[in-house]
Amino acid sequence: MAKSAIKVNNNYFSTSTENTLPMNRISIQSQNLLFNLQKIRSITSPTTAIIAMIKSNAYGHSIIPIAKKLESNGIHQFGVFTLEEGIQLRENGIHSSILIFGPLLNHQFSGVYQHQLTPVIGSHIELSSFLQQECSRSISIHLKVDTGMGRIGFYPEELPSIINELKTLPVSIQGICTHYADSGNVHTSYTEKQTRLFEDMLQSIPSEILSNCLIHTCNSAAVIRFPSFHFNAIRPGLILYGISPIEDDQKNWKPVLSLESYVSVIKEVPSDSYISYNRTFKTTRNTVLGIIPLGYADGIPLSLSNVGKILLQGRSYPIIGNVCMNQFMIDLTDCPDPHIGDQIVILGQSGNKRITATDIASWCNTIPYEILCNLSDRIPRIEL
Ligand SMILES: Cc1ncc(COP(=O)(O)O)c(C=O)c1O
Repeated sequence: MAKSAIKVNNNYFSTSTENTLPMNRISIQSQNLLFNLQKIRSITSPTTAIIAMIKSNAYGHSIIPIAKKLESNGIHQFGVFTLEEGIQLRENGIHSSILIFGPLLNHQFSGVYQHQLTPVIGSHIELSSFLQQECSRSISIHLKVDTGMGRIGFYPEELPSIINELKTLPVSIQGICTHYADSGNVHTSYTEKQTRLFEDMLQSIPSEILSNCLIHTCNSAAVIRFPSFHFNAIRPGLILYGISPIEDDQKNWKPVLSLESYVSVIKEVPSDSYISYNRTFKTTRNTVLGIIPLGYADGIPLSLSNVGKILLQGRSYPIIGNVCMNQFMIDLTDCPDPHIGDQIVILGQSGNKRITATDIASWCNTIPYEILCNLSDRIPRIEL
């Protein structure tokens, strides 16, 4: 190869025409979702309700197929954040309870009524917007208490008077909840303190209200670490999708989502060549460069630039240079026989190697939630 030339080599063209799947794709393994659901059931009481958190497009997995799969497997409570997510579920035939965890404005309550959604009310402004509606027929609500999350929620001492205020209205209080700020922490004292505050508050609620309520506090980390705090309902999100928020616990869960792409271009570049924007990578040898047609617009974090890896035929190869909007580059120099069209794994298993959302998060200093939620809707989801 001429030292300064960039060479596109015909030997890299693939002859395979077998793949009928989209070349960029998110594969959803439903049997892994059901495995995780079963695992959750095995660590809680059979009478505990599971409120499946499917907000943010079911953590990037695609809300409608995930909701349908869960509903047909015995889940009757779903958690979303926005009114629009709730309406989307109803319009796609989900009949179960749908809890809206995000704050709702005055004008949004008509949609809540119309689609029989369940607001989780957690502020005075939201409560008064709700009370301004003409409650011609009964509506179910949950009430949220802030025991230390520092986000939405009434203070524990406010709840008795709020419940009293609602007594004469056609409102059915079907749940009381709080949210843990730090349940993944090995130091358990903050979660215990939040639970104590919550339990003390429950003491002041009339028993005829409590006996009809779902009482729920636990996100995934708390579901795993605090079985004694499950009350009569839990709200798992991340573990449903097979990612554990607890170190050393991943082996108990099966990731549901894989992200695959392909080598769209292969070219040889000489040593001392810069790769991608801002010249953050310079080759130190003649390099076989693979170009992958996904970028930060698709949810590949810019911060994976020069630190991330992908898998090709069971081996791992580094991401070099800055991730671009629609593409990123990998170093395939050590790949025995690379071809254009070769499928690569960004998230998931190849041979006996696996990259999880937690691995990617650790490479780019974030959390697996962010990696999953940012996967763009325009990547087709394929159910396996
Ligand atoms: C109110 C609430 N409950 C439950 C969850 C689920 O948390 P996790 O995905 O950690 O299980 C979330 C997620 O952000 C949440 O906001």
